[in-house]
Amino acid sequence: MGEGISDLRLKREIELGRSLVLKFVASVKTAQIYDMNNTAFLTQSNALMEILDKIFETGNEVTLSLKENNLFLNETRLKVDFGSFPNFRFVVSEFKNRGIGSLCFRPQISLEEVKKFVSLFAKTSVNPKEPFQSFTKFFKEAEISNVDIEEIKEFDTRELSPEEVRIVAKKTFFEGISYLKGTFEKAAVSPQSVNVKHTRRFVRSIVDLLSKDESYMLGLTVIKNHEEYTLNHSMNVCILSLALATRLRLNRQLLDEIGIASIFHDVGKVAIPTKILCKPGPLTKEEFAKVKKHPQRGVEMMLQMKGLSEVPVRVLQCILEHHIKYDGSGYPSLHLNELGVLSRIVTITDTFDAMTTERVYHKNPFSFDSAIHFMWEKRGDYYDPLFMKAFVNTMGIYPRGTMLLLDTNEVGIVIEGTQDPEFGYRAKVKLITDRDGNRIDAVDFIDENGFKKRVAKILNPNDFNIEISKYF
Ligand SMILES: [Fe+2]
Ligand SMILES: [Fe+2]
Repeated sequence: MGEGISDLRLKREIELGRSLVLKFVASVKTAQIYDMNNTAFLTQSNALMEILDKIFETGNEVTLSLKENNLFLNETRLKVDFGSFPNFRFVVSEFKNRGIGSLCFRPQISLEEVKKFVSLFAKTSVNPKEPFQSFTKFFKEAEISNVDIEEIKEFDTRELSPEEVRIVAKKTFFEGISYLKGTFEKAAVSPQSVNVKHTRRFVRSIVDLLSKDESYMLGLTVIKNHEEYTLNHSMNVCILSLALATRLRLNRQLLDEIGIASIFHDVGKVAIPTKILCKPGPLTKEEFAKVKKHPQRGVEMMLQMKGLSEVPVRVLQCILEHHIKYDGSGYPSLHLNELGVLSRIVTITDTFDAMTTERVYHKNPFSFDSAIHFMWEKRGDYYDPLFMKAFVNTMGIYPRGTMLLLDTNEVGIVIEGTQDPEFGYRAKVKLITDRDGNRIDAVDFIDENGFKKRVAKILNPNDFNIEISKYF
């Protein structure tokens, strides 16, 4: 059997990554000895530029990152061989000395900027107590706009136990909401004071946590905070969209974009008076016309924010299109041939979160499973059928948070559900009552395919006065 295309691609990426490390090390070492105009340094930086260009040809950007003493080129871990070991060790220790977790070169970078960055990296002496902060200070002064540096994560979730990952996830979720609160408040007064770069960092930590414990992270979206609806909703849409996008195997660049688009999809709502947004009864024609302006208003606000170079047009397109359905209905009416990829994701996650949340004008929200079933019926009309299928697989037929009566007469709440094409539906359920109706706290499995327990009925938590979010 020959090698598959993806094996070859992986091999190629590892080779490119090794060359990148080699050229980076060579130019940094040369810059430590010579100044920027020296021929030896010019030769090395040219070689580094060449390899960067080669990698740009295969994707969108070049991110060299350090995770648990391993180097990654974008998402690929660079395996070390005997020959490359000294170079790897050099990069790992130099990253650590400066508190750097990742370096990202953007495709627009020029040779001049590469030289400037390498020279800065090689020559700056940092304060060992605050390595990243002191390096960042010099980095900002140098005004190198096509390199992005990120700090080594305070919580490197790769080293955490499953229990600790959950603690970090919860912390990130709540800190995220208060970060959004600040951002949306600033956006309402002066969008110019919002920097999108910070949002990108936040999105990356969510992606990281989803890769560690998708189930728990998705479970957090069950917590519905009614007072801060837009913030909570934006956060949930961000998590749901990233989970769906990961399942669709979108690359890291698109994951960043879908995260940013989800967070800001409703930012235009800050311009709508609360009395309209929270009106218990039906809206008048004029009021509805105002609400329908929020996608355009959101785009206008984004255009004024700082760090806009981080926001490709796809993000703006998604904000503009998030109320347009797959068949072109919805608003604004743009008569498009096709919706953007990001828009087709956000229309699904946005609708799902809105349908399952109680609002003043929406007192009886859909249960998770009924929302999924309702939306499934509309696939091909309202939602991209392929994406909808992936969403059902992400959430399970009985999504997390669904309260179930089992054929054993026990009652449980789904804490993890999977739809496996080969084995049917399987789920991990937290049992909250035993066969006789006594309250308990245990974890069990259901498996619709034959063994173990089966679902007898879906229950409505409101009928039992149960707050589902307590179980996550
Ligand atoms: Fe919206
Ligand atoms: Fe929304």
